[in-house]
Amino acid sequence: MKSVKGNKTVDISVENLRGMAAKYAFVHIDLGTGDGRFVYESALRDPNTLYIGADPVEKQLREYSVKSVRKKLENTVFLASSLENLPITMTEIADKVSVILPWGSLLGQIVNPSKEAINKITALLKVSGELELILGYSPDLEPSESDRLELPELTQEYIENVVVRAFETLSGTLKLEKCELFPKEKLTDIGSNWAKKLAFGRPRQIYRLRLKKSL
Ligand SMILES: C[S@@+](CC[C@H](N)C(=O)[O-])C[C@H]1O[C@@H](n2cnc3c(N)ncnc32)[C@H](O)[C@@H]1O
Repeated sequence: MKSVKGNKTVDISVENLRGMAAKYAFVHIDLGTGDGRFVYESALRDPNTLYIGADPVEKQLREYSVKSVRKKLENTVFLASSLENLPITMTEIADKVSVILPWGSLLGQIVNPSKEAINKITALLKVSGELELILGYSPDLEPSESDRLELPELTQEYIENVVVRAFETLSGTLKLEKCELFPKEKLTDIGSNWAKKLAFGRPRQIYRLRLKKSL
């Protein structure tokens, strides 16, 4: 795998990652992390957790990876990878996996649930690990992308009957803990750039889902 480290891009193996993970009490993987701001801000606040951000757009990861190097943050990793391209051996490594305001193929695979994506995400989690999904697109506000990805209208009913059901049944190990509407005024607390952008944008419904992995 490629990992963005400051201005360089280096190779990192799953074994390297496991070696790093072993030094921390908690491991959090953020898929579709974008510019990596969430990883950087979280790692600054919480030095006992290893934050691993993954995004296929290598260039985007550079800014907050450079900041991490400057701050000598040891507990960040920025992987230049899509969900699909993460190695299949990267299993049972995370206490938490988050997907915050996904877009593109990541969003498509979640709201039109794909077995491969669900299995890949579930495999990253340790038993008792938590998956957090924060979804907030709107076909009215993003019509062309919604058409391109054939996105359904996001309602609590659709999320519970289609998305949650698919994650539970296809994974066989995930169980919904909570599905809630996420207040717009709290978006800035998430700490990612998109969450901040949406906090100051037009009103839209944001949903937060938490699922737990069992044996
Ligand atoms: C709207 S941005 C959100 C970024 C970040 N989570 C935030 O809240 O600031 C969506 C991100 O999903 C990434 N993405 C799209 N398809 C992906 C995939 N298949 N696997 C992983 N990330 C993907 C994009 O590159 C983009 O950075």
